[in-house]
Amino acid sequence: MFDTISQFSFPTQISFGSGALKLLPEYLGTLGIHRPLIVTDPGLRNSAVFPAIEAILGNAGIPFTVFSAVAANPYETDVDNAFAAYLEGSCDGVIGLGGGSPLDVAKVVPVLAMNQGPLIRYEVQTGGNKQIRGPLPPVITIPTTSGTGSEVGRCSVITSTTRQSKFMVCNPLMMPRMAILDPELTLGLPPALTAYTGMDALTHNIEALTVEQFHPMCDAIAEKGIAFVARYLERAVRKPADLEARGYMMMAAMMGAVAFQKDLGAAHSLAHALSAVCGMQHGLANALCLVPVMRFNAEASAQKYASVARCFGINTSGMTDLEAANLAIQAVEDLMERIGIPACLADAGIEEDRLVLLSEKAFEDGCHLTNPRPCTQDDLLMLYRQAYKPG
Ligand SMILES: [Fe+2]
Repeated sequence: MFDTISQFSFPTQISFGSGALKLLPEYLGTLGIHRPLIVTDPGLRNSAVFPAIEAILGNAGIPFTVFSAVAANPYETDVDNAFAAYLEGSCDGVIGLGGGSPLDVAKVVPVLAMNQGPLIRYEVQTGGNKQIRGPLPPVITIPTTSGTGSEVGRCSVITSTTRQSKFMVCNPLMMPRMAILDPELTLGLPPALTAYTGMDALTHNIEALTVEQFHPMCDAIAEKGIAFVARYLERAVRKPADLEARGYMMMAAMMGAVAFQKDLGAAHSLAHALSAVCGMQHGLANALCLVPVMRFNAEASAQKYASVARCFGINTSGMTDLEAANLAIQAVEDLMERIGIPACLADAGIEEDRLVLLSEKAFEDGCHLTNPRPCTQDDLLMLYRQAYKPG
């Protein structure tokens, strides 16, 4: 009993609430950042959020540099270009603004500031991440979607320019020092993106819960995160201006990322390959793979999935864990249908002849190593085939 030493950490300071964005100058001062680099994407640069930040920094007399060319599923070249902007602006800290892609790039710019590139030297898969040395320049994250949770995570997922696959860089030194969670910033998120990113948050919470590592704190956080998604995601999709739904989804996303310090599972390996090879949006890719993976894991994770059923408000009394687990899977499927997620990979435009290549890439990805049921490459191919045309 308790013969494995577990690591628990929740260090990012989080400010949550409507209008929290106004705290940015105070946070910059607390962290001693005098010339921040803002890392964001072209969509955010042209949205109403960006002028608001410009005004807040301008009124506080804080000079800043902007790098706004981060692509979806960002490449190493995005990181290199952001780092060049950091050097050119003589910056001393980073503000990550946007969804998962700009936040992931924002979190690795400080790695290159203090460690010799290229970034791929520090990928998790080779153990290179342990070579990262600090202290790193501080990062403040400001998410504008509710899914990735990258605002509180210690990892960045970057696409290799040469390998056409994603690699992860993870180190506790990369954890943002402060996160500003202002649900007003997500009010403009379109329904489809709200649905996709919300399914990413749900997948994080479910996969973290099922990782077989002793971490009752993260398990409790994951269960609450699942309950928030079950209750509020459909509302946020149907009523984009519903600040209460937006706020709880923002919490669910952040909680999912806190919970997945336990690690993730096979759905994320399948999703990473779909994004790297086919350019699919990450949350949509998770959504399309989650149910096949839950079916695959149902017996191994029956007790955990029974808990997922209860988080969805299902009364499981008198049921076996497996019966309750099957209802949890059904509840996830029903939610996906209600929020307009495509029924299968085929409907999302994936061609069947890509599945073998995808399974090779997914098998190279590290997330499935902590799936509660071990996966061979053939298992991953079978899961893709189920996701391709369910049933
Ligand atoms: Fe994810």
